[in-house]
Amino acid sequence: MRLDYNRQENHVKKRKKLPESVQKTLLESTRSEWRKHPRFGGKAKFFMKIHRDLLDGSAKLSRGIEQLLDVPGSDVGEAVARMKFLPFSHNLIGFAHHHHEIEDHGYFPQFARMYPKLNRGFALLDGDHKVLDAALDETQMALNALNRATVTRDSLAALHKGGLALEKILNRHIWDEEEVIIPIFLRHG
Ligand SMILES: [Fe+2]
Ligand SMILES: [Fe+2]
Repeated sequence: MRLDYNRQENHVKKRKKLPESVQKTLLESTRSEWRKHPRFGGKAKFFMKIHRDLLDGSAKLSRGIEQLLDVPGSDVGEAVARMKFLPFSHNLIGFAHHHHEIEDHGYFPQFARMYPKLNRGFALLDGDHKVLDAALDETQMALNALNRATVTRDSLAALHKGGLALEKILNRHIWDEEEVIIPIFLRHG
């Protein structure tokens, strides 16, 4: 059965946990014991570190935007330069896109072939990546607009809202993705 990504229980912006239809296909594994697993030190640890960096980066991005909300519009450009905000956010967004590409073109198709019953999980994660990539691109465009001489309150407020939304969906996606892929890494190293 194909996965209808836009249903409330599936969409990364709306779901509160992995949908039951995916949950029941996962490999048997307990998150609290992952770190004790003899093969944790391989790709499992590596991927969880990348995910941690993405989550920390998006939290830092949101806090940075929050600081800009207190800066007068005509001074935003200077504050952005002082905070080295644009290189940081461009790196973060590029890193997130790159990570999704590696998953979409390498790991996910490979895992889906190894574990056909996990196909719904990979369809879900693939849908998440499309939503995330769009949110990353929107954030990138809004950040580029900070280079203008005067930045309006409205555009900063929209950027702030976008940054928080990105942080929220990234958290949901990464948690759920780890539930699907970390048990596979633990099994295969
Ligand atoms: Fe990931
Ligand atoms: Fe992902």
